Amino acid sequence: MTTETVAHELILARRMARLGTETAFEVLSRAKALERQGKSIVHLEIGEPDFDTPKNVVEAAVDALRGGWTHYGPSAGLPELREAIAGYVSRTRGVAVRPEEVVVVPGGKPIIFYAMLALVDEGDEVIYPNPGFPIYESMIRFAGSTPVPIPLREEREFAMDVDEMAGLITASTKLIILNSPQNPTGGVLARTDIEHVAAVIGDRNIMVLSDEIYSRLQFEGEPFSILSVPGMQERTIVLDGFSKTYAMTGWRIGYGVMRADLAAQVTRLATNCNSCTASFTQRAALAAFSGDQSPVDTMRAEFEQRSRAFCEGLNRIKGFSVHMPKGAFYVFANVTRTGWTSKKLADALLEEAGVAALSGTAFGSYGEGYLRFSVANSMANLTEALGRIDAWAEANL
Ligand SMILES: Cc1ncc(COP(=O)(O)O)c(C=O)c1O
Repeated sequence: MTTETVAHELILARRMARLGTETAFEVLSRAKALERQGKSIVHLEIGEPDFDTPKNVVEAAVDALRGGWTHYGPSAGLPELREAIAGYVSRTRGVAVRPEEVVVVPGGKPIIFYAMLALVDEGDEVIYPNPGFPIYESMIRFAGSTPVPIPLREEREFAMDVDEMAGLITASTKLIILNSPQNPTGGVLARTDIEHVAAVIGDRNIMVLSDEIYSRLQFEGEPFSILSVPGMQERTIVLDGFSKTYAMTGWRIGYGVMRADLAAQVTRLATNCNSCTASFTQRAALAAFSGDQSPVDTMRAEFEQRSRAFCEGLNRIKGFSVHMPKGAFYVFANVTRTGWTSKKLADALLEEAGVAALSGTAFGSYGEGYLRFSVANSMANLTEALGRIDAWAEANL
């Protein structure tokens, strides 16, 4: 007897058509495929520190595993970690934060997902930076709301024009996303800009999602959070975490700080989705807070130095120009003088020069004319990349 199998068409939910992606992971897999064919690639596409997680954090995780921290924990996070985070955010942002205003999640990303699912409805508008972290627009659309981009321009060193943003606010604006230091531009919002944003919002019931995942990687001056502006605490969700600060991208741990009633709703989403964040990872995160902070300072200094050297090198290459970023570990180079579109240029650099970078358009339409290079790679590899790009530019431009 033969058994016949029927080929069924995959019929996805309509919402899947609205979901975007993060191109860095796609470029990484293309680059890996080229490497498998024997090509040499310098990886400047992915946004993660090339440093190891500090030793004390790794030791704390191993101890936790041996000590039996291998079970479910509360959905909002271990009470001792929520308390430590509340203490840290209170100290660094200068406002009183309580543990019940903290939700621990697997990475910073879920806070974007959960905040959007909890707050925005169809017809609501969300203002977000463009170029910006692509997950913002993806999640805005996925949640059924309307994305309203605020362009970030090089002539303002990629800080948003707050007056322009004010013109985008309507009666439907539900949420405004801020990100400083910024991915992909390395731009930073000055305290005056952030206070201006708060003044523009005034007493309207508009929430702010303040993505501060790079706050410990600001090169000059102290980072300033809109959470610190009087009157804004109940309308602010701070996204922060351990991925970038402590080189813990693969551990998957981050957190959101928000009013307790919203934290309870975000916790309900977490219960439905991830149950809890890994318990031993949370014990390790506690150690990250309480341990020696000098690895963070070392990383920041190193990223600043590499960014400077990479910018100087790029500025000597035909068709490229760039300003020194103010934080994070990205260099966002203007390539309009090459005469090539960003995507075509990024593809050519990957395939012909062996340098993986991201097209500025991976961060939104206002990223056209730019390429993002991650300097989370050794100085030797960055120098090699500069040599390859220079040789390619001399031959092709
Ligand atoms: C601006 C921004 N926010 C959030 C995240 C997410 O961080 P995590 O890896 O902790 O989810 C990233 C990661 O690249 C980022 O660049």
